[in-house]
Amino acid sequence: MTDKTRALMARGAEFLGSDYAILCGAMSWVSERNLVAAISNAGGFGVIACGAMTPALLDAEIAATKALAHRPFGVNLITMHPQLFELIAVCAKHAVGHVVLAGGIPPKGSVEAIKAFGGKVLVFAPTLALAKKLLRSGADALVIEGSEAGGHIGPVATSVLAQEFLPALAEEHIVFVAGGIGRGEMIASYLEMGAAGVQLGTRFACAAESIAHPAFKQAFFRANARDAVASVQVDPRLPVIPVRALKNKGTEEFTAKQREVAQLLDAGTIEMGEAQLQIEHFWAGALRRAVIDGDVENGSLMAGQSVGMVTREEPAAAIIAELVTECEAALSR
Ligand SMILES: Cc1cc2nc3c(=O)[nH]c(=O)nc-3n(C[C@H](O)[C@H](O)[C@H](O)COP(=O)(O)O)c2cc1C
Repeated sequence: MTDKTRALMARGAEFLGSDYAILCGAMSWVSERNLVAAISNAGGFGVIACGAMTPALLDAEIAATKALAHRPFGVNLITMHPQLFELIAVCAKHAVGHVVLAGGIPPKGSVEAIKAFGGKVLVFAPTLALAKKLLRSGADALVIEGSEAGGHIGPVATSVLAQEFLPALAEEHIVFVAGGIGRGEMIASYLEMGAAGVQLGTRFACAAESIAHPAFKQAFFRANARDAVASVQVDPRLPVIPVRALKNKGTEEFTAKQREVAQLLDAGTIEMGEAQLQIEHFWAGALRRAVIDGDVENGSLMAGQSVGMVTREEPAAAIIAELVTECEAALSR
């Protein structure tokens, strides 16, 4: 690494215990032992996606990752998981160094429980006020993620979040920037704005070590930025949490399903609770169908707008090396 890149990545790399301040954000079904170990062994920082795993499954996944990885890695837990505290206990058992709390505001006691066993806590915050509150109450680092990202997203672009959060927080706090990063030039610019590092998901989803189905990877290689669209809420009564994914038959049917359920509501054929449940359940198991079974028509192909820059299968180490080279070139200009 050039001196300038090393200097700008130093805080983030030291915090993570990695060579580069580059996280591979947890991706449900994709971020399991193989990809996580490959990222960490290549000098980045891999994160296991716990998703809906039970504590026993997470236990086995961490043990298996430890067997493959000779560098530190983290675990991503979804805050609304009904067994969140049991999952934290599993992380404690394995002395996991970093836990990322995703999917909502960390419930009372969760940050404390992670810190109690010596784990570092990374949190997401949609607003500056909430970020400050979480950092005051013990979170060690922050991830800001813009709407370009794949998976569940907020409404604001990464470029705008970076301008709001970095000048206010980055001098005193560790802040990682995520969403829409496909090349090292972008990493360089967020580092120069004060970010401690970056988090990428889409760019790593099709790494050679990723267990994603070949059909899932082919869909990524074919897709352009404009194919990665955010899900749209059709009816104000039926809440839809936006998810960015490649458009396919499933995304079209989701729109039709919302219209159908709204009509049933108008006709008084179903209750509001049942209607909302039907919407919520539409995508149940859909990411697994795409990633594991390769059903790219009906499954959910969660992907960020940077998918257009994912054109072939490469080892995680090659992707990281390319990103770092691009970052160095940009910083030496
Ligand atoms: C297929 C897929 C699944 C994801 N699953 C999760 C998840 O389970 N938990 C989470 O916190 N973020 C999840 N994400 C978001 C990533 O961790 C990461 O923050 C995001 O991909 C970064 O933006 P990018 O896709 O533009 O690189 C997922 C993203 C993708 C593409």
